[in-house]
Amino acid sequence: MAEPIRLEMLGDQETKAGNYFVSNYPPYSFWKQEAVPEVLDVISRKPAPGTPLGIYTHIPFCRKRCHFCYFRVYTDKNAAEIQRYVDAVIDELKMYADKPFIDGRKPKFVYFGGGTPSYLSTQALKHLASSMQEMLPWDEAEEVTFECEPGTLTEHKLNVIREIGVTRLSLGVEHFQEHILKLNGRAHGSKEIDRAYGYARAAGFPQINIDLISGMMGDTDADWDFAIERTIELAPDSVTIYQMEIPYNTTIFAEMQAAGNDVAPVATWAKKREWVERAFARLSENGYTVTSAYTAVKNPSTKFLYRDHLWQGADLLGLGVASFSHVGGTHFQNQHNIDPYIDRVQSGNLPVFRALTPSGEEKLIREAVLQFKLGSLDLQYFRDKFGVDLREQFPAALEYIRSTGNLTEDDNFLRLNIEGLLQVDRYVHEFFLPQHRDSRYA
Ligand SMILES: C[S@@+](CC[C@H](N)C(=O)[O-])C[C@H]1O[C@@H](n2cnc3c(N)ncnc32)[C@H](O)[C@@H]1O
Ligand code: SF4
Repeated sequence: MAEPIRLEMLGDQETKAGNYFVSNYPPYSFWKQEAVPEVLDVISRKPAPGTPLGIYTHIPFCRKRCHFCYFRVYTDKNAAEIQRYVDAVIDELKMYADKPFIDGRKPKFVYFGGGTPSYLSTQALKHLASSMQEMLPWDEAEEVTFECEPGTLTEHKLNVIREIGVTRLSLGVEHFQEHILKLNGRAHGSKEIDRAYGYARAAGFPQINIDLISGMMGDTDADWDFAIERTIELAPDSVTIYQMEIPYNTTIFAEMQAAGNDVAPVATWAKKREWVERAFARLSENGYTVTSAYTAVKNPSTKFLYRDHLWQGADLLGLGVASFSHVGGTHFQNQHNIDPYIDRVQSGNLPVFRALTPSGEEKLIREAVLQFKLGSLDLQYFRDKFGVDLREQFPAALEYIRSTGNLTEDDNFLRLNIEGLLQVDRYVHEFFLPQHRDSRYA
């Protein structure tokens, strides 16, 4: 059994195995199969007035599994198997489309994530998009995001992606140095990035995002600087930078275990933060604005609605294997493996695997944790929505963060400086209820 994650593991220390990025609350390990009937209950109720609805679709296929990847992905499926999966996703949406929680709502935001949505053929993409739209038109969606691995993109495919209504194209670039991409098991090289980016610009997407990772195996100061400068030259609308984490289900962790190492062969947490800080500083010098612990945008009004709605408690219906949903105040996750997922759908059952309905206090903690990742907490927002003063709600957590010297406060906001923002994912554990601390975040 692997060690639970502890705060000190994420300080200035070497990178050990475990999840760093906090994407939800309460932790997934507390979601239970016994709570699945609660899902049937919430979807048979009408939504709370004014709650935005989003749709997430998981496409779990990739050309190659990256050594650092922890997502549910398959690299061995043929066209017929992929077709079967796409049809199951469409059938899954059919099961929800006429339920009371939809109640005529049209999605405000749509997200195709993975895995690699751009691995789908243009034919499969058109079939998926048109079938989904027949049930739940996204003509009123303000944002449709689509994740891509650069090497899967052709000019024709990008035009199809644009035609199905995608507004925000997200490219998994990760780095620009050929030898680093290779060493980390990426399927694409740097030439494919340039080619895909050029075609994507020509296709006229309103927003192009580039994902980078700070701390890939083999990275150095000089290589990272090169990656930052190439990013600035391409001038994407948005840049997302993750700090490399090595969860237990990665190839890197398997190799560490086999070799008896408990330290991952990547930079320390302090170094990864230094690199993100350097990237944000260079991007800022070039007109970008830092809008979260991970994001800088070229135009300060550029939004990322999926993140912002989700972090303020919107409804999200997740389709596909292992996808996460948050509907009517209940969290749930689908079956983790593709065959049971498809079998459940084909037998006319919802493919939900585990669920949890958070208490009022847990909902408050969830929003505080997620919104803190934007750099500040709006005290009035929490007074209005939850009837609490965050300073009274979290005295010990705030005392700890204050003691780091990275918190500034006034009557309306609690703000993190850049040093604090770049370690927000470890600070937020301080807000957790005692039973959720030090849990494995899987
Ligand atoms: C689903 S992938 C994006 C689309 C596509 N699969 C790709 O990789 O090009 C989402 C992003 O998660 C990030 N990511 C994946 N594994 C990570 C890890 N171990 N640590 C930090 N970020 C990671 C990468 O930046 C990646 O672009
Ligand atoms: S391409 Fe993306 S989803 Fe696929 S294995 Fe690599 S990081 Fe994971």
